Amino acid sequence: MVATALLDPYNRTVRDLRISITDRCNFRCTYCMPEEGMKWLPRDELLTYEELTRVARICVERFGFESIRITGGEPTVRAHLPVLIRHLAELGVDLAMTTNGATLSHQAAELARSGLRRINISCDSLRPDRFAAITCRDALGAVLAGIDASLAAGLDPVKVNCVVVRGLNDDEILDFAAFGRAKGVELRFIEWMPLDGGGQWNMGQVVPATEIVAAIDAEWPLVAPGGGGVRDSAPAESYTYADGAGRVGVIASVTRPFCESCDRIRVTAEGQLRNCLFSVRETDLRGILRGGGTDDDLASAIEAEVGRKWAGHSIGQVHFTRPARSMSQIGG
Ligand code: 5AD
Ligand code: SF4
Repeated sequence: MVATALLDPYNRTVRDLRISITDRCNFRCTYCMPEEGMKWLPRDELLTYEELTRVARICVERFGFESIRITGGEPTVRAHLPVLIRHLAELGVDLAMTTNGATLSHQAAELARSGLRRINISCDSLRPDRFAAITCRDALGAVLAGIDASLAAGLDPVKVNCVVVRGLNDDEILDFAAFGRAKGVELRFIEWMPLDGGGQWNMGQVVPATEIVAAIDAEWPLVAPGGGGVRDSAPAESYTYADGAGRVGVIASVTRPFCESCDRIRVTAEGQLRNCLFSVRETDLRGILRGGGTDDDLASAIEAEVGRKWAGHSIGQVHFTRPARSMSQIGG
């Protein structure tokens, strides 16, 4: 079958699929979900690995998707993850995962053997007490061991995601940059987006990417190819250290949205297709999968949802509507 590019109404080619495989997590990051009282999806409402792989295969075979990222919740808490990785790797795509890293010290090698190529590990503080306060888990050591295990397993690149929140961890930007330089991993500083479970988000606590870049540049001069950072298909603007110590990125989701180069769609753990992180509508793929739908039915539903993709979110503007789901329920 010859793949045809999937174009949205703004002529962007959609070719990146983000699959959330669980809404559960072994952490409780305060900006992401409440410490108690999260209602988890019952098991039978989650797409099975077979169902997930079928959706992924259609995206690859019919529409030429080139990359798939596995997310959550926390993907490593779902049983038999290497089985899913093997199935998705067989599709021949660039396979990535976003994880909190807490279990990678014993999982990274097997995930890499199963076909995982790249990994993003979230870490919002390098201070054990603060890390525990943010995640509600005393797990900094485990996450750092997970970063080392990922490097040792040959996952490439290993990136570390740090959501910067004013007054919470913005005093650690240089510590994180130093950590990335020393370890040879790319730090990606992310602006805090209005997707928190508790609704505490406010513009005043968003640390603008320009401020982050300026702080790092003052300590270790940065080269911004093209004048303003490189913007590849990834949302990160990636800078190179002038002294050759690798790269560092910022994701300016709030102050400089990258919607115009967006090439992705998302499937939630229960099989709802979303054309944007901030989408307020969804297409029920699980209903089609479990209602005896054909591959053609699924492909048409995907096409129709992409056909409704909007130009972009409008965080900070009056008409912005916060999605009803938190990040852990959508998948990052
Ligand atoms: N704003 C920005 N990033 C977030 N993440 C989770 N919630 C938010 C938010 N409200 C990050 C996680 C992880 C990735 C999936 O998204 O820390 O790195
Ligand atoms: Fe879990 Fe990630 Fe949410 Fe933290 S941000 S609670 S690690 S899903």
